[in-house]
Amino acid sequence: MATSTSAQTASEITRPRLIELLNEDLAREYQAIIAYVVYSQVLKGAEYMNIADQLELHAKQELDHALTISRQIDYLGGMPTVTPKSVKTSDKAKDMLRFDLDNENETVRNYRERIRQCEALGEFAMAEQIRQILTQEQDHQIDLATALGEEVADMSSRGAKSRK
Ligand SMILES: [Fe+2]
Ligand SMILES: [Fe+2]
Repeated sequence: MATSTSAQTASEITRPRLIELLNEDLAREYQAIIAYVVYSQVLKGAEYMNIADQLELHAKQELDHALTISRQIDYLGGMPTVTPKSVKTSDKAKDMLRFDLDNENETVRNYRERIRQCEALGEFAMAEQIRQILTQEQDHQIDLATALGEEVADMSSRGAKSRK
């Protein structure tokens, strides 16, 4: 099968592999819920009041994402994972925001890939659900980057740029 490099991951996808990948996404959503539940409450200082409120909203949105992804895994005949990816801690506000931004960058990169993979399998409704999640993840990226006084990393080219 002749495929371009960018379409390669999508063309090789199978349903069992998609279940595995969605479980990775679900583990990242759990990680995000935990991080935002904690960070939103422990961020101290007048300059972080605004972002702390935003993180509280993120926590609730991440729970909705987890439910949506869990539903897709069940629909595909898989069993949703119960294990989050590990959550880093720090007593420094900047570190917490940095961890969150790194994770959101990784999440955005993965969901962009997942949409292509769902479409390659003809799962268009699933792709649409993930597209809606992706819109919110991109807002999370912007909130965090703004709080850190940075530009949002360009996640469309895989790799390099997001790494610090
Ligand atoms: Fe999420
Ligand atoms: Fe997020």
